[in-house]
Amino acid sequence: MDTIPQILLLDTIADKGTAAIREFAHIVDGRSWSQEEIRQRIAPFDGLVIKSNNWIGADLLRAAVNLKVIGRAGAGLDNIDVAEAAARNIEIICSPEGNVCSVAEYVICMAVLLGHQLQEAHEGSRRNDFRRHSWQGRNLQQMTVGIIGLGNIGRGVLEKIAPLCRHVYGYDPYVRQLNGPWDERFTMMEHLHEILQLSDIVTLHLPLTAETTDMFDDTAFSYMRPGSILINSSRGRIINDQALLKALKTGVVASCALDSLYPDPVYNKAPEDATYSHFFVHHPRVYYTPHIAAGTKDALEEVACNLARKMKACLYKSHSFVHPLK
Ligand SMILES: NC(=O)c1ccc[n+]([C@@H]2O[C@H](COP(=O)([O-])OP(=O)(O)OC[C@H]3O[C@@H](n4cnc5c(N)ncnc54)[C@H](O)[C@@H]3O)[C@@H](O)[C@H]2O)c1
Repeated sequence: MDTIPQILLLDTIADKGTAAIREFAHIVDGRSWSQEEIRQRIAPFDGLVIKSNNWIGADLLRAAVNLKVIGRAGAGLDNIDVAEAAARNIEIICSPEGNVCSVAEYVICMAVLLGHQLQEAHEGSRRNDFRRHSWQGRNLQQMTVGIIGLGNIGRGVLEKIAPLCRHVYGYDPYVRQLNGPWDERFTMMEHLHEILQLSDIVTLHLPLTAETTDMFDDTAFSYMRPGSILINSSRGRIINDQALLKALKTGVVASCALDSLYPDPVYNKAPEDATYSHFFVHHPRVYYTPHIAAGTKDALEEVACNLARKMKACLYKSHSFVHPLK
């Protein structure tokens, strides 16, 4: 029988989550380790705690001879070699539920902010331009919303935004039909081009896969309504940057909110050390935020605590550890 599990922490999670893990495991802090150092020291660990910034490739997994579980705080598996993990019987655990409310509120906030042209009015005022008639936005209540991807977050957005807008359209080839209190205000579409033609606001809630990489290319933008609002809180690579730039220039996209770019910046550098630059960060009709849609304190705590609970269940269910409190 083993002692308690050894967990390697590779990214920061909410204190409540680390405290919950400490109740059943020993934590080693590897957040400052280089990728090579992680590879050299990973062998004794039973579990990893990661977020979107860590790359868990085949190389690392081959060196992780004791690894039983990878705990990904939040959602999105594009930074893990899932096939290699499966081949090695390493379980992957996510905790996406805690993100839903925070991302849904972000989407509503962006829909209103961009719909009312508040960002442009705010930037204008900073330039001493107070001609308020230049910024005549639209009510969310009069606009249609297209949700692309109806998993955990897409459904959370549907639930919260349906009562606030004119109609919601959904597109997800892997989901047949959804039912709920929003029935009257929701229509599932079969094809991407149909939802793009019908939606004033398009919001993306997709995983990054071969199929979704560059999904928003020139062809997709050609179906969108002139003056559309685009919100992407998934992954930057789902949108082709050059195609979006063109769509902003021609007015097909009036404005957009991007919570992720490709590549994303390194998130923990002080401004004086940061060398990151991307043209969308400075584009006047792009409202960029550094991957914070699910970054409220409440969401981070829920994500971390759910992850701790699930990792504990996984480790103690299938492996013979001795629980420290027993
Ligand atoms: N910005 C943030 O802070 C933040 C936080 C959490 C998650 N995310 C991102 O949001 C994404 C969605 O998260 P989730 O928890 O809802 O994931 P999820 O896996 O529950 O849902 C994704 C949905 O997309 C659908 N889908 C897959 N391919 C598709 C395609 N080609 N066209 C249409 N639909 C397709 C799937 O069927 C699924 O229903 C994540 O992958 C992650 O990248 C971002």
